[in-house]
Amino acid sequence: MSLRTVFESQPDRRYIMFGGKGGLGKTTLSATCAFWLASQGKRVLLFSVDPQASLSDIFQKDIFGKGPVPIMQNLWAQEVDADRRIKDYQEEIRKKILDMYGFDRVPEEIDNYIAAASAEPAMEESAIFDAVVDIIVQGDYDYYIYDLVPLGHALYYLSMAKVYDEWINKITKLREEMRQYDQVAATMRREETMEEDKILSELLYIKERINASSRILTDKHRTAFFFVLVPEQMIILDTKKAAALFAKFEVPLSGYVVNRVLPPDLGAGHIPEYLRNRITMQQRYMKEIQSTFGAQILAYVPEMERDITGLPMIERLAKRLFEEEPKA
Ligand SMILES: Nc1ncnc2c1ncn2[C@@H]1O[C@H](COP(=O)(O)OP(=O)(O)O)[C@@H](O)[C@H]1O
Ligand SMILES: [Mg+2]
Repeated sequence: MSLRTVFESQPDRRYIMFGGKGGLGKTTLSATCAFWLASQGKRVLLFSVDPQASLSDIFQKDIFGKGPVPIMQNLWAQEVDADRRIKDYQEEIRKKILDMYGFDRVPEEIDNYIAAASAEPAMEESAIFDAVVDIIVQGDYDYYIYDLVPLGHALYYLSMAKVYDEWINKITKLREEMRQYDQVAATMRREETMEEDKILSELLYIKERINASSRILTDKHRTAFFFVLVPEQMIILDTKKAAALFAKFEVPLSGYVVNRVLPPDLGAGHIPEYLRNRITMQQRYMKEIQSTFGAQILAYVPEMERDITGLPMIERLAKRLFEEEPKA
């Protein structure tokens, strides 16, 4: 199996992700993969919610917060501005409270609550997740490649529904607390009852979307999830653990890509001892990787002479990855 045969033999897998720790090559591989698929005539959206604007870096183009930006024929890249998403969220909630209660402005306590709630990781994750949902439900592209943030082996997809549950529980509690405002406001306006809870139904609607999208993202018929690793002790250990977690949550894994493999001919001839030691060490880890992940390894990516930025460099890597046999 190679990366290419995975794509060719499973054309329905249109949601593509590369997982792994920060700095291992997720963005590089996402971009390389996007480039190759686009050059095969597929319409590809490569997107990220990473505040580091790493797609801007790799394509050497400012695309942050600008929606889908064309990169080349058939390829678009998009970097979601997560902070702005969160602010929009807060604003929306404020508006809804004002509408619901007929206030001119949001009472200070409530405003504080909204601010505190949005400082929570759950709020940020929710906003990010919602942005991802917006992107993947459009259906305009043949492939959606999600360039993951460093924090995840993307396991947070699995916990997302749970995060949402917790958040909704908090909001429900807030609703309870607001009942007093509710009564005061209703009395002032001489109204009998409140209309249905718009905020809560909105949240439940969002939660539904999250569930629908986490179904897509964990569906092995539609999603390909690859792990990126490098020949280093800690990373091998980490990848094994992550793979075990994936198995536990029944998230389908499509295979492994080994990045930063030193060119084999580097060891030939006279070289400094320092380099010789590095090569020997890497060879040992390569053996370990092969005995651990074996046939599930889809590609070996050579350590290039410099960072991978710009389309010509990405093209070189795409040729190497998709048009040559995988070899260590
Ligand atoms: N095979 C490689 N050869 C040379 N540089 C690489 C290679 N893979 C990744 N890099 C460089 O390493 C850095 C981290 O890679 P990146 O793809 O951004 O990792 P991640 O997205 O997992 O954090 C980038 O500067 C990238 O250009
Ligand atoms: Mg990255």
